[in-house]
Amino acid sequence: MVETKEKLIAVRNLQKSYKGHKVLKNINLSVEKGSVFALLDSNGAGKTTTIKILSTLLNADSGSAVINGFNVMKEPEQVRGVISLTGQYAAVDEGLTGRENIRMIGKLRHLPQAIKKSDELLDAADRRFLKLYEACC
Ligand SMILES: Nc1ncnc2c1ncn2[C@@H]1O[C@H](COP(=O)(O)OP(=O)(O)OP(=O)(O)O)[C@@H](O)[C@H]1O
Ligand SMILES: [Mg+2]
Repeated sequence: MVETKEKLIAVRNLQKSYKGHKVLKNINLSVEKGSVFALLDSNGAGKTTTIKILSTLLNADSGSAVINGFNVMKEPEQVRGVISLTGQYAAVDEGLTGRENIRMIGKLRHLPQAIKKSDELLDAADRRFLKLYEACC
């Protein structure tokens, strides 16, 4: 048996049906801390269903899933605090500038220090760009 405490993600016997149609049949997977993991399978195999369960957006019918030591079914709030999720399309607001998008994410995640740091870095990048522009044009 795999020790779940050492794993970043540990999924055991996950099952899910949609209206009697069994989509996940005893899914088992584990992801080591510090590794990169890709979930690949054919269309309709259940990848999105699995990700929705792991990100607390959908309840499994049975089985267990632990992320960074937190049980997805029993501790959804804690799980949401340690994960980030992006869909297959870039999760940026096209009506906002890059700087505004970063600020919005920082505000949503209550990270004032990160907003300050990103402003500093973007200001430095702007100054550098302006210098290069003045030198060449
Ligand atoms: N809300 C739903 N209600 C009913 N059936 C669903 C629902 N969501 C997904 N399914 C079905 O469950 C199966 C798995 O779907 P899922 O989206 O998890 O697969 P996927 O591996 O992400 O597919 P793709 O590669 O196309 O993104 C498919 O047969 C799909 O039609
Ligand atoms: Mg999918």
